[in-house]
Amino acid sequence: MKRISIGDITLNVNVSGQGRPLLLVHGFPLDHTMWREQIDELSSGCRVIAPDLRGFGKSDVTEGKVTMQQLADDVAALLKALQVDQPVTFCGLSMGGYVAWQFCLRHSKMLERLILCDTRAVADTQEIAEFRLETAEQVARDGSTRLIENMMGKLFADESLSNSREFVEHTRQVMLATDPAGIAAALRGMAERPDMRNHLKDIHVPTLIVCGEHDVISPPEEMQEIASQMVHADYVEIAAAGHMAPLENSLAVNTAIREFLPVV
Ligand code: MLT
Repeated sequence: MKRISIGDITLNVNVSGQGRPLLLVHGFPLDHTMWREQIDELSSGCRVIAPDLRGFGKSDVTEGKVTMQQLADDVAALLKALQVDQPVTFCGLSMGGYVAWQFCLRHSKMLERLILCDTRAVADTQEIAEFRLETAEQVARDGSTRLIENMMGKLFADESLSNSREFVEHTRQVMLATDPAGIAAALRGMAERPDMRNHLKDIHVPTLIVCGEHDVISPPEEMQEIASQMVHADYVEIAAAGHMAPLENSLAVNTAIREFLPVV
């Protein structure tokens, strides 16, 4: 692991392998270890860069609000600090996908390809945004246990939960270890993320859309719709997986990524 300073904060980042840069950006409220199967497998052909975003894992936390734009700028600064001078494949899951959209809009010269896993293009409705803001206050006041237990049932397919797969407990522990101030800041940022649907037709980089067949947070129909609005997007549905497809069926996700990337 490396510790890299970018302006006012320091980020924790796993960098493995050599070759074309593949950036893996985790979901909420997780850290880079959600990509462990991809890091192991894909670093044989790529330079895999998997950071903990601001407020998560072992990266620094900033209180208040952290927007998706801020997280995209952080990642761009991190790539510069790592002297990545080639455009990257940006692979983001869920909140990592929200960051990917902002990276497309703000740092398009640094982008070669996109992989969007289990994510959404719509903004929050007013009702959902208000609920997120209330949850942020509750987490900042009482801690994150309630939020995390509510999320556990939605992140995974029933078969992952009922078979007590090891990664389920690992994910719970990662979430419990996350600083509530970082969780609250990201909730406030997600509540005001922009609607991307009108931008989809303007994204021209080759894109892979990956969705777990049982994802209840960003369901297959919604992700198929994203793919249909984009110029160069392929859609792959992952069997026996929910929202955390890269952990739940890593073999299928890695196969889809390998087929999509030119040299892996
Ligand atoms: C995630 O997995 O990153 C979250 O479900 C995103 C969200 O809460 O919208």
